[in-house]
Amino acid sequence: MSTKDFISMADLSQKEIWDVLLMAKNLKKKPFSRKLHGRSIGLIFQKPSTRTSVSFAVGITQLGGHPLILNADILQIKRGESPRDTGRVLSRYLDAIVIRANRHEDVIEMAGFADIPLISGLTDKEHPCQVLADLLTIMEHRKMKHPRELAGFRVAYLGDGNNMAHSWMLAAGSLGMHLRLACPKGFFPLVGYQEKSNALAKKSKGKIEILTDPMAAAKGAQALYTDVWASMGQESEIQSRKQIFAPFQLNSHVLSAAAPKALVMHCLPAHRGEEITEELLEGPQSVVFDQAENRLHVQKAVLAALLK
Ligand code: CP
Ligand code: NVA
Repeated sequence: MSTKDFISMADLSQKEIWDVLLMAKNLKKKPFSRKLHGRSIGLIFQKPSTRTSVSFAVGITQLGGHPLILNADILQIKRGESPRDTGRVLSRYLDAIVIRANRHEDVIEMAGFADIPLISGLTDKEHPCQVLADLLTIMEHRKMKHPRELAGFRVAYLGDGNNMAHSWMLAAGSLGMHLRLACPKGFFPLVGYQEKSNALAKKSKGKIEILTDPMAAAKGAQALYTDVWASMGQESEIQSRKQIFAPFQLNSHVLSAAAPKALVMHCLPAHRGEEITEELLEGPQSVVFDQAENRLHVQKAVLAALLK
């Protein structure tokens, strides 16, 4: 790995994403080892988590390491200790940090001052571990032997141009995928992510389009993806967002525009009846629980690669 940290999907090159996915496939077949024997890894959470916290803790244990789950409310971070001091101090005890943070910039600051690898378990800007799990899920359901086969795969993402959208755009750019996003006006992904992912897509022959028409985005898609309409920290906006995002719901009408047997994807937690219907989430094309399981396998690969 050329990077110390995994904070953005763009921290990994195309080849490094391939390598992580291939390693994850192997770790899924052979889950237990001593790759992290004697290593202690801190898992810091400034926001709630089910999948990220449990999958990281279990994955570290399966690799022979010791996970410490730390609610940020019991750390001095809560009382204003800076990311830089926290990063420097924790580097003296731990072998790596996984952090779910309110502010992406805080994670970058902490990583800059920490001597140990930092892995993002979600920020306001990105959620790269989730996208790695999503990619492995697509490979499995489409029987791809090598991640290079993801090139040209058509994904439609409906909803908020949020952290999930950003990491997906970068992944699609790196891997040469065709990603169409449909977002309401005013909820487009950040311009910086549009530029970065387009630059990557130019090299990989990928394509990233941002539309406002969900049916046009879904047309011919091989996977349909959505995420909550109000992310963690945006709870006060939920009522207004419900109105704005209603036309972007993942439902049977949208599915009818997609390719036959298109995968139905969601990072979870889901709000049935809002961004996705019960019918689709529980339907035969849904792979959401495989996505959740694959968090475990890809994160173990990331840890093993960064702590080598
Ligand atoms: N998808 C995801 O990151 O889930 P959690 O918020 O439960 O960790
Ligand atoms: N966009 C969501 C993702 C949750 C996994 C959030 O940030 O809350």
